[in-house]
Amino acid sequence: MIGLFDSGVGGLSVLRHIRAELPHEPLLYLADQAHVPYGRRAADEVRQLSEAISRFLLALGAKLIVVACNTASAAALAHLRSVLPQVPFVGMEPAVKPAAAQTHTGKVGVMATAGTFESERYAALMHRFAAGIRVYEDPCPGLVELIEAGKTADVQTEQLLQTILYPMLADGVDTLVLGCTHYPFVRSLIEQVIASAPQKPQTAVAIIDPAPAVARQTRRVLEAHHLQTNDSAPGALRCFSTAQPDMLALLAARVLGQAVTVETAVWQPGESKWLALAL
Ligand code: DGL
Repeated sequence: MIGLFDSGVGGLSVLRHIRAELPHEPLLYLADQAHVPYGRRAADEVRQLSEAISRFLLALGAKLIVVACNTASAAALAHLRSVLPQVPFVGMEPAVKPAAAQTHTGKVGVMATAGTFESERYAALMHRFAAGIRVYEDPCPGLVELIEAGKTADVQTEQLLQTILYPMLADGVDTLVLGCTHYPFVRSLIEQVIASAPQKPQTAVAIIDPAPAVARQTRRVLEAHHLQTNDSAPGALRCFSTAQPDMLALLAARVLGQAVTVETAVWQPGESKWLALAL
């Protein structure tokens, strides 16, 4: 099984590409909705949560873990690899590299979370790939919460996106990086806001979602470790939420085009973080 996790529904935007890339692999997905949003939590807390979730997924049989969350990858990926060295992990980062390669105006917008922008991993990414381009960063306050509430086509969300995007577009941003796995769920609204912007660059604005590349990387890592399934039947999906199974079930059904049952995983009280299945 491939295990995936995110603070909430966002990782489903990665899961759908992994499903398409590896249709026979059984998948486990955990949304830590008891702690969403991760973007405003301390890196140390996100590290602890990520480790406990990874251990939970491993106990259920995960052979590889995809950290389907930019914020958790930024805070915890290095830590996870050091405390669980036997486990192959696939992480995420805002797609600054491809954006820098394809912008014509030399101006790139990055929509991510405060946690991602404040991380060393992001600073290193900028240092490596963003020399010579101008990067407009927006931590999109409130956007994750709106998406968690299912408001992916609401006026409120559209207005928030206008506040985020209009200034970038007026300045000539022609490439937009979705640096949080929640944001692909408002991609249509983003396209609408771009189309209605009073000022925008001459050329079309490209939107980059790294999820397809992450799915291809997952396949490569799986193959490199000889962990592919031999099954020819469609892979099963088991979903967990630490809080609100309903919204996750709804969105998972919408994204995957099939009914999805969501089980509850419960954070146990005490100093050290660990998760147990609700029976
Ligand atoms: N989906 C997450 C990400 O990719 C985090 C959203 C949040 O919980 O703040 O960054």
